[in-house]
Amino acid sequence: MKRDILLHMRSMSKHYPGVQALDSVDFDLFAGEIHALVGENGAGKSTLTKILAGAEQSDSGTIEVSGRTIAIREPADARRLGIGIIYQEFKLVPELSVAENIFLGDERRFLRHGFVRFSLMHAEASKVLSRLGETIDPVLPVRKLSVSQRQIVEIAKALSNHVRILAMDEPTASLTDREVENLFAVMRNLKTDGVGIIYISHRIEEIFRIADRITVLRDGKLIHSCPVAEADSEMLVKWMVGREADREAHQWSPKGIAPSQRREILRIENLTSDRVHGISFGLDRGEILGLAGLTGSGRTELVRLIFGAERRSSGRIVVDGREVSVRSPGDAIKAGIGLLTEDRNLDGLVLQMSILENITLSSLSDVAFGPFVNGSKERRAASELVRRLRIKTRSVETPVETLSGGNRQKVVLGRWLMTQCNILIFDEPTAGIDIAVKREIHALIRGLASEGRGIIVISSELPELLQLCDRIAVLCDGIVAGILTREEATQERLMKLATSYA
Ligand SMILES: Nc1ncnc2c1ncn2[C@@H]1O[C@H](COP(=O)(O)OP(=O)(O)OP(=O)(O)O)[C@@H](O)[C@H]1O
Ligand SMILES: [Mg+2]
Repeated sequence: MKRDILLHMRSMSKHYPGVQALDSVDFDLFAGEIHALVGENGAGKSTLTKILAGAEQSDSGTIEVSGRTIAIREPADARRLGIGIIYQEFKLVPELSVAENIFLGDERRFLRHGFVRFSLMHAEASKVLSRLGETIDPVLPVRKLSVSQRQIVEIAKALSNHVRILAMDEPTASLTDREVENLFAVMRNLKTDGVGIIYISHRIEEIFRIADRITVLRDGKLIHSCPVAEADSEMLVKWMVGREADREAHQWSPKGIAPSQRREILRIENLTSDRVHGISFGLDRGEILGLAGLTGSGRTELVRLIFGAERRSSGRIVVDGREVSVRSPGDAIKAGIGLLTEDRNLDGLVLQMSILENITLSSLSDVAFGPFVNGSKERRAASELVRRLRIKTRSVETPVETLSGGNRQKVVLGRWLMTQCNILIFDEPTAGIDIAVKREIHALIRGLASEGRGIIVISSELPELLQLCDRIAVLCDGIVAGILTREEATQERLMKLATSYA
């Protein structure tokens, strides 16, 4: 079969102060192909797609589209060429409606006698969303949407244009299985239409399911490029990290503290709000409890209730045997409960401040981030964390704004790993983080548990929960459909519970 080369990027280089983000990288894309771009956090993936989208300029290199050398100086150039991009960081305007966001910059399509015909715009938006298998109301302001719904709107936005080349920078980082399936179905349709797709993801299984070819970057260099059939996940990880993958993290066995010391640290009784109903469970010291469930099952709502970020209508929260009054996040932190939210932007990284300052940030700590102590010991601990999380940076004094998406997330996570909270809740702790560091984060979370803390983890990736947790509670439609121990839990059983009332 003869295939048309849609895109050929030759010898792309890009230098930022202190780092060669891209070093003479070649990349090509066929029509009707899904080409996965993989590599550790900071490898240069987003930089390559930003250059293609006209959001950044390369220092050198040429770009050919359908055999013609072209210049992409600004995003409008890319749009004209039929290049669509889904950025890693959300670009939506929270105050505008879903439909307005989808057609932002393209409203002229709906003009009539100088007025935007919103009814038509809403109908068009619904059409694009339904292609994605979604029924989000196009009139809603984006600020009212959950993180995964926002991601879907970003995808719809890219699809609203007629695209020939589509770059997707981690579109699934905050999606659950079912949403990922819908997205994959759409991608397969686009493929059939001859669209070429550049697909960035840290979820290795996804790549083997959906991609035709893989290109691996490491430290801005092209390491390997091949059809997906010629690679397996071990090889892929090796190309990404440049060595055999660590296996220690895998060999860790759960239950870090002696059963005799495993008394209950947290008890939730009958927690109820608009969206969750009569939730009860206990959490022991040293235990890692997973929360599984589909989007909308109430997982995020539940942990926000425990953290006092959402109002409950009834129910009790008992910490160390004593009922606590949690009406605000401040109350929760005082009771020793910390929450790493799913929406990392809300976690308030101060972009101009250094990595170290952000990790040890104490000025905001009392309200938002729990009790920190900001002494030299903490600075040393923070530096150690930067090393273990492999935050790719020249120095811990570097401002956070120069970090890649995944490395920023590591800073937010690092901050929570440094807190003194005895009960820690992580909502999607490894979303957007590369596979080598994922294992390290699991080890760090287990470390916190073995110090006697109680941990709750939400993850859309069932394999992650199965690897990490002592028990897994499955939510379905706002209630606990079941709680399985590590021994009882399998992917099939969890899925079955998650859909038991749906
Ligand atoms: N505006 C910037 N200023 C300085 N350095 C930058 C800037 N943008 C990116 N970098 C650096 O360029 C390198 C490549 O970053 P890039 O965002 O392309 O990584 P990535 O592969 O997308 O990683 P991730 O998986 O974490 O998203 C990193 O070392 C990053 O710190
Ligand atoms: Mg990136």
